[in-house]
Amino acid sequence: MAWIVKNSAGMKIERRKEPYLTPQLREQFTRDILPRYETKLGALMPILHEVQHHYGCIPFQAQEEIANFLEIGVADVFDCVSFYEEYRIEPAGKYVIGVCQSIACEVCKPTCSEIIDHIREKYGIEPHETTEDGKFTLLTMECLGSCDTAPVALVNEKLHENLTIEKLDQILDSLAD
Ligand code: FES
Repeated sequence: MAWIVKNSAGMKIERRKEPYLTPQLREQFTRDILPRYETKLGALMPILHEVQHHYGCIPFQAQEEIANFLEIGVADVFDCVSFYEEYRIEPAGKYVIGVCQSIACEVCKPTCSEIIDHIREKYGIEPHETTEDGKFTLLTMECLGSCDTAPVALVNEKLHENLTIEKLDQILDSLAD
């Protein structure tokens, strides 16, 4: 779960002229996705997946367009995007580091909090942020299903187990620019 805390009342939405939901995407969603669901709201998550796959993220403008397309509230779309770890509002870095922060990874040594703190200090980023050079994005994740090898982290979908700070540094330092 990823609650995103923002000053939304004063927030400006960046807009571009071209719509994210191009006629081709709309046609694809209407043909391939909508018929599979009883309600338009039911099609929200697969459409979010498609848009993220297409653009690498789901910017606010795209969320508005999806809401209009599905005839649902923009808040419904934003709730869904901000709730699930998997959806992104901004493009991720080249390497996405997902550190498990669930119980087994919190009670071992080093704890997941120590691992997360180490990455924060090493790259100067907070969870859900990306380094300025676009190389690393840090995410916190819920149980990755490998509690017996805790602490664990995913780096671009590859699971790294029994982490130590040294092992993590080796893995991260070996990644190409
Ligand atoms: S708690 Fe971290 S893998 Fe299960």
